[in-house]
Amino acid sequence: MKIFIDSADIEEIRTVFENGICDGVTTNPTLVARTGQDFKSALTQIVNIVPGPVSAEVIATDYKEMLKEAEELIKIGNNVVIKIPLTLDGLRACKILTGKGIKTNMTLCFTTLQALLAARAGATYVSTFVGRLEDVGENGIKLVSDIKTLFSMHKIDTKILAASIRSQEHVKEVALAGADAATIPFKIFDQLYRHPLTDKGIAQFLDDWKKADQNKILFS
Ligand code: G3P
Repeated sequence: MKIFIDSADIEEIRTVFENGICDGVTTNPTLVARTGQDFKSALTQIVNIVPGPVSAEVIATDYKEMLKEAEELIKIGNNVVIKIPLTLDGLRACKILTGKGIKTNMTLCFTTLQALLAARAGATYVSTFVGRLEDVGENGIKLVSDIKTLFSMHKIDTKILAASIRSQEHVKEVALAGADAATIPFKIFDQLYRHPLTDKGIAQFLDDWKKADQNKILFS
């Protein structure tokens, strides 16, 4: 499973990509608005930090306007992926963009049938919103596993991008459910590698080493 960062914050993205273990970035209008930055300048900075796919979402709800926005967004970088809401106009725009060889991420997906239509429109990714389904008492993880079953059965290439991730447990569960990628908020990403027993183990190793005074032998 690939790891994406769900953020438009330049410092968060820079911090994560310095370590080289992240595969891409997803943004959305809320995340961009939160930065207080101009969308195009923020996106330009992001595509120059991130070697992998960077999802940038259209604001328009009409397919013709979506296409106009997409044409502007893809000029910003060849790793820009056009993020489009899963509506009829969105599907229409996705189909047209796919025909032009432009990568797309159909977002706000909450059902298996929406995901199937996104695949039929040629979407590169479909973003399944796990946390928001759980907010309304539904099973977001089962959505991922159902789509995985469907896509595997029919040999569909569209990638399942698990989104609306709220915890480390979500990351584990969507990985086990077969998501091709998960897009993770920075604060959760920054928890993934941490464990108190890891820290305790390192301290113990160093303490034992110091006691044995091995430095002289090892580095003599
Ligand atoms: O950016 C797409 C998605 O991950 C946002 O989900 O529920 O955290 O706003 P949410």
